[in-house]
This record gives sequence, C-alpha cells and structure tokens, in this order.
Amino acid sequence: MTSLPIRIGLVTVSDRASRGEYVDLGGPAMKECLTDILECPWDPVPRVIPDEQALIEQTLIELADQEQCCLIVTTGGTGPALRDVTPEATAAVCAKILDGFAEQMRAVSLKVVPTAILSRQVAGIRGRSLIVNLPGKPSAIRECLMAVFPAIPYCIDLIEGPYLTTNTAVITAFRPKK
Ligand code: MTE
Repeated sequence: MTSLPIRIGLVTVSDRASRGEYVDLGGPAMKECLTDILECPWDPVPRVIPDEQALIEQTLIELADQEQCCLIVTTGGTGPALRDVTPEATAAVCAKILDGFAEQMRAVSLKVVPTAILSRQVAGIRGRSLIVNLPGKPSAIRECLMAVFPAIPYCIDLIEGPYLTTNTAVITAFRPKK
C-alpha cells in the first residue's frame, strides 16, 4: 500500500461546454458518481476541453504524468460524429488497452439503450494512470462507471497506484485473494 494522495482527473470533452455555450453537466456527474462510490478521500482534477485530438492527448498526458492522477475519467466525444475523437486520443497516449472495460460498459449500456452500440469508448493504462472513456450523457456516465468500478481499485493496485476503498453500500471492490 502506498500513501500517494488520491487524485482523479475529470475530463469533459465538448466543443460547446468548452466555449461556455453549454453548462458542463458531465464533469459534475462524474464527480457526484465517484463521491457516491469512493469511501477514501480524493481530490478531483477537472478539465473542460474541446473535441480536438491533440488537446485531448495533451490533457490526458498532463493529468497522468504531471498531476499524477491514478484514475482519469473522460466524458463525451466517444460516438461516431465527425468531431468525436476521444477514443483515438486515449488510445494514442496509452501503452496498454484494457478491452474488457469497453466490452462491459457497452454490454451493460445496451440493456438500457440500443444506441449504446454507437459509443467507441476505450480504457487503457498510461504509466500509473488508468484512463476510462465514458459517453457524454450524465445517465450514461453513472451506468458505465458502476458497471466497471468493481475492477478499478485492483487495476490501480496493479499499476502501483494508491489504495482505493469504496462505499460497500454502493460498490464492492473485488481484489483477488493472493
Ligand atoms: N450509454 C449509456 N449507458 N446510455 C446512453 O444513453 N448513449 C449512446 C452511447 N452510450 C448512451 C450510451 C449514444 S446515443 C451515443 S451517440 C454514444 O454513447 C456516444 O456518446 P458521446 O459522443 O456523448 O460520447
């Protein structure tokens, strides 16, 4: 167990929210969901940026390498629209892709809405950071995070990050017995 401060990056990818034409609902939704899930103290590191691949990559690199976020969640830009490039940016900065995260998020989401198939969301590892893409809609943020969170604390253990604890009334983290 390490005593690193627990920092979590919350990245809203939206042209309109970044221009102030639209209130950022995604950042607060990610923060609220993580507050419900996590028992341990943690600090949010929020960003609101446009759908520009280079800027998304730069932001993810900064949150992983400089800000030392053990977990970075993004919202938005995962669909098929021309400006949607969050998965490409995520894949470009990650050394390893964890396909199971996207498979599980889409499987759970497809039980709620058939258009879940349109999300190209990915998850991966950059250094000691786990990056997880979420769709833009606040309800989708919660459905997807709840679907994969049981595996997130152990994933962060494996990349030598801080020890995350959850509110077991909401989510029970699964850690295999050694
Ligand atoms: N997943 C869940 N759980 N709930 C949803 O409403 N919306 C879908 C999909 N995934 C949705 C979902 C839709 S309509 C789209 S277009 C894609 O996410 C991509 O959304 P994004 O571009 O905002 O990331």
